[in-house]
Amino acid sequence: MRQPASSSSQEAYELARDFHEQSFEYSRRPDLTSQYPRVSLEDLQKTQLLGSGAFATVVAVRVTSEASLEQTQQKRSRQVSNISSCSTQIIDCSADDELFGEEDQEQQQQDRYALKQLKSSLDQEDLHRAVADLVTEARLLAEINHPHIVRLRAISSGPKFDKGFFIVIDRFRATLVKRIEEWKMEEKHISGLKGRMHDWNGHRRTALFQERLRAARDLGSALQYLHENRIVFRDLKEENVAFDKDGQIQLFDFGLAKELPKLRHKDDLYNMTPHTGTLKYMAPEVALGQPYNESCDVYSFAILLWEMLSLKRAFSAHTNKEIEESVVRPPFKRPTRNQSWPQELSFMMHKAWSPRICDRPSSKEMELMLMDLCLEDNLQNKRHSIVVHKSLSIRKSKLHLFHHKRSGHSDHHQHPHQDTDDCCSSSNQDHENEDPLLSVSVH
Ligand SMILES: Nc1ncnc2c1ncn2[C@@H]1O[C@H](COP(=O)(O)OP(=O)(O)O)[C@@H](O)[C@H]1O
Ligand SMILES: [Mg+2]
Repeated sequence: MRQPASSSSQEAYELARDFHEQSFEYSRRPDLTSQYPRVSLEDLQKTQLLGSGAFATVVAVRVTSEASLEQTQQKRSRQVSNISSCSTQIIDCSADDELFGEEDQEQQQQDRYALKQLKSSLDQEDLHRAVADLVTEARLLAEINHPHIVRLRAISSGPKFDKGFFIVIDRFRATLVKRIEEWKMEEKHISGLKGRMHDWNGHRRTALFQERLRAARDLGSALQYLHENRIVFRDLKEENVAFDKDGQIQLFDFGLAKELPKLRHKDDLYNMTPHTGTLKYMAPEVALGQPYNESCDVYSFAILLWEMLSLKRAFSAHTNKEIEESVVRPPFKRPTRNQSWPQELSFMMHKAWSPRICDRPSSKEMELMLMDLCLEDNLQNKRHSIVVHKSLSIRKSKLHLFHHKRSGHSDHHQHPHQDTDDCCSSSNQDHENEDPLLSVSVH
């Protein structure tokens, strides 16, 4: 393998490798990246800038060489095909929040991959961290196989711990940020006078809510899969979730993810890098530099779930300093939950964003509840309210059990429907957004 030439880049290479190895310090799994096609930039034609994060830019590409990005993992079901050869060329480099924007179907089909590479503007200090994160992302994606997690297609044929390293993944249609904007527009449309007349029975509004619930369920299944495989994601947020060409929700950006030991420690908490991720989604224990585990993703998922259901941004009026002072620390402010949401969903959210790890449900429990709600939401309105009414009491008692089981060593027992740590919400419920059907189901 070619090594970076100069001594400073050699240093950056070693630092990057050290950082990368930290993410796999507990790992016993082999590195599967060697099973993926290796491509060079000459094999790819860049067509459009799709977005950028702190360290990386992502560009739509089509494969121009005879080399195909054929699937390498046996279990993977979807296929990719070969495209003919020409050299790397930027056709359109305008930053585009629309992602697919006005492109026609054919072009979308051709440019269905995305190239993630490091920004050229990174200073030396950020470089080793960024390289390490991208190599970590490649290694984790190489072993992941889930319908709601982005698929790795190829990796750079150059050296791994180098600023030129890149990965090729499937391209998305729109990020969750954009999708939430679209949902908001649709909600606004049907809430107007004309909209209400067309949607007099509230079916459209209910269907929109259910669509969001199903997307949350699928995202929850991706999270549960990661946790089952002892991977903590650590950066769950709207910006790292998208929808693919088939409208399926996808989790991506695994730069901060880390493998946990296969066998759980007695308390199952680990000293990992503090302050990892984005503050408003960050579990208090991570922000405070305390030991943590995959439950930090459950916290982030609760905030994200609230955003998907309320169509608002959490803590939008708070500065980072205010979040540090009153969200991470007492009084542990949390977003206002809508009274019309199913009670068990609201309760689960409340437990999931608890500052205490032991109060939180597991991602499996969250996924199961969302699956359950999505099954119920297929029922007809009238039947729905009756069935939900009945099953609620059963499930509430189950949740009570789970609450007591998990908070066994907590000195703070709270009634499930009290919102004492929810100081943004309890006095300020948002009735405007009440869903007519769902409000029936939560008596
Ligand atoms: N596969 C993709 N298809 C379309 N857009 C993407 C894709 N991957 C990333 N993006 C866009 O690029 C942005 C940055 O990508 P991301 O992987 O999150 O980089 P970073 O690690 O720097 O945060 C995303 O928020 C999204 O807008
Ligand atoms: Mg990102």
